[in-house]
Order: sequence, then structure tokens, then C-alpha cells
Amino acid sequence: MRPLRSVAPERESSMGRIVVIGSYNRDTVLRVARFPRPGETLAATGMDRFHGGKGSNQAVAAARAGASVALVAAIGADAAGRDAMALWAGEGIDAAAVSTLDSLPTGEALILVDARGENEIVILAGANAAVPEGLAVAAVAGAALVVAQLETPVAVTEAAFRAARAQGIPTLLNAAPARELPDGLLALADILVVNETEAALLLSRTAPPEALAAALAPRHPRGVVLTAGAAGAYWARRDGVVVHAPAILTEVVDSTGAGDAFIGAFATALAQGSAAEHAMRRGAVAGALACRRAGAVPSLPTLAEIDAATLQ
Ligand code: RIB
Repeated sequence: MRPLRSVAPERESSMGRIVVIGSYNRDTVLRVARFPRPGETLAATGMDRFHGGKGSNQAVAAARAGASVALVAAIGADAAGRDAMALWAGEGIDAAAVSTLDSLPTGEALILVDARGENEIVILAGANAAVPEGLAVAAVAGAALVVAQLETPVAVTEAAFRAARAQGIPTLLNAAPARELPDGLLALADILVVNETEAALLLSRTAPPEALAAALAPRHPRGVVLTAGAAGAYWARRDGVVVHAPAILTEVVDSTGAGDAFIGAFATALAQGSAAEHAMRRGAVAGALACRRAGAVPSLPTLAEIDAATLQ
């Protein structure tokens, strides 16, 4: 592995549309002093409801970071689904490929956030499990980048990524939440973005973050980005070069959505033609900013906030 290089800002060069295929969840957040042990009942210190779901969060993060974004998702014919449509309209996201299903409710997430800002999340897929494959495949046409995660059906993402590959459109797979994946999908991911837990599961072993990224990189044409919390983020390319973006120190109120903020800003920079170092820096800044406020969507930073923090 070659020596790590540190990041250096540069200007974006062109605009590009990002298509996000992914989930929407209504997040119910309970704040607790600490996480309960098995069989234990704890009193929460507060409760909130926020927009969430990794796909929607990443779409909102990219839109706020300055991208043109289209979302492929599925919601129920219920109040939570209507709230989601209002969110996307307000964020300027093209939701023409969002399906409203009569037979399934909008996805739900129950999130515990402890005093350190760490979280534990349980999701109920609902309509997320029925994102229509045909809409996802059709939506990729003309995209600069297609982004997906693992809260919607793997087969749908695989079909959309195959269509993107056939059209020469790059794909970014965020392999979250952690699970084993079919080789077919991994082979179609031009860039894989994972945290240490997700990387270790895919490799069936643990190692230092840059080694995990480097071990996964050969399967992906544009390499692997590994987000490692306080250790920053690593982008390992197939040629052995590893770019490192140091973590940005910040107060942590709630880390929910920090990974989504990273991906939204990172994907935006890539779709706009930025170099690896700059894209990593934008992602790291956005991820840190997203830790300062409660909830996923309320914490996702705007372009102005990312610009200001990037220059510090
Ligand atoms: O990445 C954070 C998200 O994970 C939450 O918004 C929750 O809905 C789950 O999808």
C-alpha cells in the first residue's frame, strides 16, 4: 500500500444528476442515558419524530449539498407517506419515481440515542420492501451517478445497477445496514462505501480501517470508501493508492444520519467532477456537521454550511 495523502480542496467542474434508489422511514427517536441491557426496561428522557431512511436521507443530503437529485422509493398511502412527499418537494428532489402503495405502510425506524450521541436502530421495512424494479431501472437513464443502500430489495438495486453499467453510468453502493451480499450486486458497484462493521462482515475478518478498505478495493472499479469515525475516512483505489480524509472534531449530540450526510456530500462532489481528495473532504465535513443536531434530516448540512466548514 502506498503512503496516505492528506486532502486539499479544489473547485467543482460540472453539474450532474444523482439518482438515489432507497428507503424512507419515519424515525421515532427515544433519548436514553444509556442503552438498555437484554430484558431491562429504561425510562426515556425524551421522544421526537423525524424524517429518516438511508435512501431519503442521502437524497436530502445530496440536494442540500448542491446536487440535482431524483429519488426512487416506495411509501404507504398514509400520513407518514404524505409527510415524506412534502419533505422531498421542499428539498427540490424529483420524486416522480416514488411509488405510493395501498397494500403496505410507510417504513418505520425506532432509534435509541444515548448521552454520547450514539444510536441503536430497528427498522420495519413496510413499503421499502416493494420498490418497483421497473421504475428503478428506468430512472437511471441520464444520471451522473446512481446511489443505493441496503434498506430496499437487493434484486431491485442489482437490476438498476446493471442498467447503469450498460449505459456507462457509475454506481455507488452504501452497504448499510450491514448484511451479507450477493456477488452479483457487489460486482456492479463501482464505488463501495462502508463503515468498519460492514467491511468486516463482507470480509469475514477485522483489520485496521485502511487495510479493510484496501482488501475490498480490488472488486470495485473506483475503489472503496471506508468511514471510520474518529479515524476519518479512507478511499482505497484498485491501484493501491489510499486517500485519507481526517475526521473533523465536533460536538456529538446525535450521530444518526452522519453516514448519510457523508455520502450525500461525497456523491455530490463526485457527480460534479471533483477529485477524490476534495470529495472525501466534503463528505467528512458534512458527516461531522450532521452530528451537531438531533435527528437525521434536521442535521443534514446545507451547501453554505459545508462550504464554510470546509474552509476552516
Ligand atoms: O442512517 C440513519 C437511518 O437509518 C435512520 O434515519 C433510520 O431510518 C435508518 O434507516
